[in-house]
Amino acid sequence: MPIRVIVGAQWGDEGKGRIVDWFAATARYSARYNGGDNAGHTVTVGQRIFKLHLIPSGVIRPKVIGMLGNGLVINPRTLFDEMETLRKAEIALPPERLRISYAAHLITPAHQALDKAIETARGKGSLGTTGRGIGPAYTDKATRQGLRVADMFSGDFCERIGDAVAEANRTLKMLEAAALDPAPIADEYRRFAERLKPYVADVSLELDAAMKAGETVLVEGAQGTLLDIDFGTYPFVTSSSTTAAGTLTGLGLGLDAAKDAGVVGVVKAFQTRVGSGPFPTELSGDQAVRLRGTGSNPWDEFGTTTGRPRRVGWLDGVLLLYSIRINGINELAVTKLDVLSGLETIKLCTAYKRDGKTLTDLPFGPADLSPYEPVYEELRGWSEDLTQVRKWKDLPIFAKLYIQAIEELAGVPVRLVSVGPERDQLVEKEGPEPRR
Ligand code: IMP
Repeated sequence: MPIRVIVGAQWGDEGKGRIVDWFAATARYSARYNGGDNAGHTVTVGQRIFKLHLIPSGVIRPKVIGMLGNGLVINPRTLFDEMETLRKAEIALPPERLRISYAAHLITPAHQALDKAIETARGKGSLGTTGRGIGPAYTDKATRQGLRVADMFSGDFCERIGDAVAEANRTLKMLEAAALDPAPIADEYRRFAERLKPYVADVSLELDAAMKAGETVLVEGAQGTLLDIDFGTYPFVTSSSTTAAGTLTGLGLGLDAAKDAGVVGVVKAFQTRVGSGPFPTELSGDQAVRLRGTGSNPWDEFGTTTGRPRRVGWLDGVLLLYSIRINGINELAVTKLDVLSGLETIKLCTAYKRDGKTLTDLPFGPADLSPYEPVYEELRGWSEDLTQVRKWKDLPIFAKLYIQAIEELAGVPVRLVSVGPERDQLVEKEGPEPRR
C-alpha cells in the first residue's frame, strides 16, 4: 500500500489525531495536505495531551517524519509555537524530522484580520470561521497574489509582504476594521524566514523517493469531508480540499500513489459540527448536553482551536454514505463510542425523506439539506462503561450491534473503535459478527 489516508467523514473533529497516532506506530512519514492551523488534532498519551493545529499528529511517535505539503496555508508563528510546545514535551523536531513544502502558502496577520473583519461584516450570515486567516490566505492563492514559503528567501520579500499588508489595509478600511502596520510584520516574517530555511523542502520529491523505497506514508486530512470546498455543505465549508483526493494535489503525488491506497474514514459515533450550516440530525436541550458534555473534560465537545461548544446530533448515515463515496473510504474508525453508554436508545439516521420518498443518496450534494427529514432506526443502548474495554469480544452486545448497524449501512468494515481519549483506549474489531 503506497499511502494510507486518514480522512474525516463528517464536519471535522472526528478524532483523526488519535487514529493517525495509532497507524503512525508502523509508519515512517506523517503528512498533512490541506488547511492550516484551523485544525485541532488531539493525541493523549498518559498524562500528556497534545493539541496540534499544524504539525502532523504522527510526529509524536519518535521515528516518524512530519511533512507539510504545498496544499497547506502556514502561519509561521503557530508553527514555531507548536514546535516549542513539542520541544518542552521532549519531542524535538530538527529539520530531518519536519519537512515543509516550498510551495505552501503563508498566512500573515493581515489574513487573520481580514478573516475576522469579513465575518463581522457578514453579521447574522457569518460562516463561523476559526478566525485563523484560512479563507483570505486561500483567496490570495487563487487570485495569484499569495506569498509562498519559497518567497521568504527572495531579496524583495520584505517589500512584498509590506505591499500585501498595505493592500489588505484597503479592504480592512472598507470593512471599518483597524489597519495594520506593515513594518513590524515584515520584520517578524524576515526573522521567521531564517528559522524556517533548514526545514524547507520539495515534499513531493521526498515523498516520491520514500514511496519508491517502500516506506509507508500516512496522510492526515484536516477538517472533514462535509467541510470540503467542493463537496461540503457549501458555503458553510472551509477553503481547502479536505477529501482524500486532496492528498494528490496537496502533496504533489501522482495518480499512481492512489492505486491501492488505504482510505480510513474516521467517524464519530454521533454527529457534531462547529460553526454555521445545515445539520439534519441536530439535537437540542438535555439530549444535546448529554452528548456534548459540560466542558469539564478536555475531550468534551468544545472546539480544540476556538473553544466554542459544538453542535451535536445523531449519526447521519446518509452523509456517511456520501463521504464513503466521495473519498473511496475502504475502512472505518468509529470514535467516542464510550460517550453513548447509559443511553436507553440510540438513533441512527439511515435515510432521508422528501415528498413521501425515501432516499439514501443526495442528488445535488449536501449544500442544501433543508428539504430532507431524517429517517431513524432506533437501537437499544447499553449501560456498561466501555472505557476499560480493549477487546472486541468484551464490548457489550448492544454496543457491538450498534457498530454492526453502522457497518451494514456503510457497506465497509469498521476496523477500529475508540472508547476513550487515551492512546490505548482503542478496540480493534475482530471475530464473528453478532447476530441481530
Ligand atoms: P475556516 O476553516 O476557519 O475558514 O472555517 C470555516 C468552517 O470550517 C467553520 O464552520 C469552522 O468552524 C469549520 N472548521 C474549520 N476547521 C475546522 C476543524 O478543524 N474542525 C471542525 N470545524 C472546522
